[in-house]
Amino acid sequence: MNESQTPPKSIVLVGFMGSGKSTVGRALHQRLGYPLVDMDQWIEQRARKSIAAIFADEGEQAFRDMETSLLEELDEPTAPRRIISTGGGVIGREENRVLLRRLGYVVWLHAPMEVILERTAKNRERPLLHTDDPAARIAALMAARKPLYEEVAHLRIETAGLDSNELTTGILESARYFFSGHL
Ligand code: S3P
Repeated sequence: MNESQTPPKSIVLVGFMGSGKSTVGRALHQRLGYPLVDMDQWIEQRARKSIAAIFADEGEQAFRDMETSLLEELDEPTAPRRIISTGGGVIGREENRVLLRRLGYVVWLHAPMEVILERTAKNRERPLLHTDDPAARIAALMAARKPLYEEVAHLRIETAGLDSNELTTGILESARYFFSGHL
């Protein structure tokens, strides 16, 4: 990867399902005015169906291909500075991790297992958690993904106990340092 050819510009939020990426993404968008790309929403709009329906009709790999093509599309030299909020599994493919780092300052929103469980139990929109034992599935996915979030992220933020305003302020302060080294 050659990060120096196209300086990374956007703020990219990664993290597990229910870690608050969409909420913090909206707050950053409001604070900075940069366009917001919520990848799950874009994919749903383009496919004209929900993520659950994409998984059911076409399978997870088709959804993963959609994620990779959207990242490739976002990675163009004339792209504006954006806030990019990703789906929790986007870090699974190595090519995606390379693209995420090329796109910008990658912030990992980390939340403890109990918080994830509580938040994800509130809606049934996540096909990977359509199982008899969502807690076991979450634990397994978290264990498998943790090293990948660690690898891709420039910054890890513990979200527990902080509201989106506080998280946004923290992200903006550290992003400022990051971007000043990449001008
Ligand atoms: C997924 C997370 C979801 C969505 C899809 C798969 C995952 O996004 O992309 O259901 O693999 O963790 P959120 O992290 O926004 O829930």
